[in-house]
Amino acid sequence: MSDSTTNDTGPTTTPPAWWTTATVYQIYPRSFADSNGDGVGDLGGIRQRLGHLHDLGVDVIWLSPIYRSPQADNGYDISDYDDVDPLFGTLAEFDALTDEVHALGMKLVMDLVVNHTSDEHPWFVEARSSRDAPKRDWYLWRDPLPTGQGADAAGTPGAGSHPTAWRSAFSGPAWTLDEGTGQYYLHMFASKQPDLNWENPDLRRAVFDMMNRWLDRGVDGFRMDVINHIAKEPTSLAPGASHFVMGGQIHDHLREMHREVFAHRTGRELITVGEMPGVTVDDAKLFTAADRHELDMVFQFEHVGLDHGPASKFDNLPFDLVALKRSLSRWQEGLADQGWNSLYLGNHDQPRSVSRFGDDGRYRFESATLLATVLHLHRGTPYVYQGDEIGMTNAGFTSIEQYRDIESINWFDESVAAGADPEHLLEALRFRSRDNARTPVPWSGGAAAGFGTGTPWIELVANHDTVNVEADRAAGERSVFEHYRRLIALRHESPVVALGSFELLAPDDERLYAFTRTLGDEQLLVLANWSGEAYELDPALHPALRRRSVPQVVIGNVPGGAGLTLAPWEVRVLRS
Ligand code: NOJ
Repeated sequence: MSDSTTNDTGPTTTPPAWWTTATVYQIYPRSFADSNGDGVGDLGGIRQRLGHLHDLGVDVIWLSPIYRSPQADNGYDISDYDDVDPLFGTLAEFDALTDEVHALGMKLVMDLVVNHTSDEHPWFVEARSSRDAPKRDWYLWRDPLPTGQGADAAGTPGAGSHPTAWRSAFSGPAWTLDEGTGQYYLHMFASKQPDLNWENPDLRRAVFDMMNRWLDRGVDGFRMDVINHIAKEPTSLAPGASHFVMGGQIHDHLREMHREVFAHRTGRELITVGEMPGVTVDDAKLFTAADRHELDMVFQFEHVGLDHGPASKFDNLPFDLVALKRSLSRWQEGLADQGWNSLYLGNHDQPRSVSRFGDDGRYRFESATLLATVLHLHRGTPYVYQGDEIGMTNAGFTSIEQYRDIESINWFDESVAAGADPEHLLEALRFRSRDNARTPVPWSGGAAAGFGTGTPWIELVANHDTVNVEADRAAGERSVFEHYRRLIALRHESPVVALGSFELLAPDDERLYAFTRTLGDEQLLVLANWSGEAYELDPALHPALRRRSVPQVVIGNVPGGAGLTLAPWEVRVLRS
């Protein structure tokens, strides 16, 4: 958000919004650093490690949920929006953290989870107490259909009484019968995460009031969990309607939120980002156009869905560079004049980016830095997920007992019950499970890796003796951290990185990711060899490659990289 409604400038007008030069760092608190020895990361741990983030140079810290929660989905199931879960600390510690973040010149963004609450939230406890409860309508209820006219628990239409055959994102039906009142409630995620009814004005008021309390407390904005799913029109809940449609009211809800929560906060630099599975470029333009007063940017999912097969996200397809380039460049072009991109390759719901898109073995350093460079040189606001700045790899778990994630475990159990081969399922999880990105950050070598003194809630990655913060930061020219630091600084210093136009080169090349960024007379040429073999550049690709004088390398990952040969996983950014 820019500082006032009348001065709500987007990136293409003057002055550009502050977040065009910013980089956001995501902390998944339970896996970041544990200060009290209970094996779970906490606010105290974050406070001890703020120097790491300050050194990295990030502008904004986004905290995954730290509110009170039964932790069915690691905090994405909130039972009190106004308190910190004792697992993570206290409100007083939160205030201290906010002050410390601000004193270091950074901002703090909260996760806002208002598509659903926990079933232990007092709102839901009241709502389910009777059909006449004042807050009954804050959730979504449907009568059972006469047996045989609805779906059964396995999702078979005509075999049970469920209002629709919808499936929850975490396996099983999206409807659970509340025995006490005899109606089904909707939950797009776990049954412990009932969906809120955003058509109810009192519910919306309660959410806006809560957001205002956090902003008054000093936080600098929100990352909004599955926010495009909040508008479920009554008709879209009908049997046969498309799954979890993005109801037409969504834009109204977001504009109302802007009016009620952000518009009057002139003089503050705030940020809003909406997580939006299924969002298209055209939708995103509407959500993020500055003059529409909805959101600053959205997280879109197109590029992280390219390797999902038709059966489910666990149906793993091989990586296809041409498809990735096509997708990301379509978003670059689509939001060139209106709206703004968020840039990410990993987060707490995705596998580790170096394992998924790069080579997490022999070329771990080169491919981790290549991925970072390609991403950070796009137009948009980059998001760094904790551990990516040291090239952390997937978890490498081999047994279901090692997993903690509700999505992974439910999918495994359901598939085993349906007769699937457990070894095959474990292989899919090894690649795709969300737990791949949720292992504790290894701060140093040694058995506990400097994460804390207790047994961590989830195992460390086996390579933590070599892949850890201390080792990486001491690695000189081969420090992933140092490379990220330079990329983040480059965006601060260089308007062409923040605002330049984007042009993809060689779109059909299966190994080269090349593009230019141009602003006025200035142009950067990005050349990335997305493969484990040397790559010969074609001088016809760009005039800079045909000149006698060698163009200046702004940033690269192979010392002395020059000429027309790119080493395996080499990336070079040239001032052309
Ligand atoms: C998206 C979050 O990123 C994910 O971790 C969570 O499980 C779901 N939304 C439900 O809140």
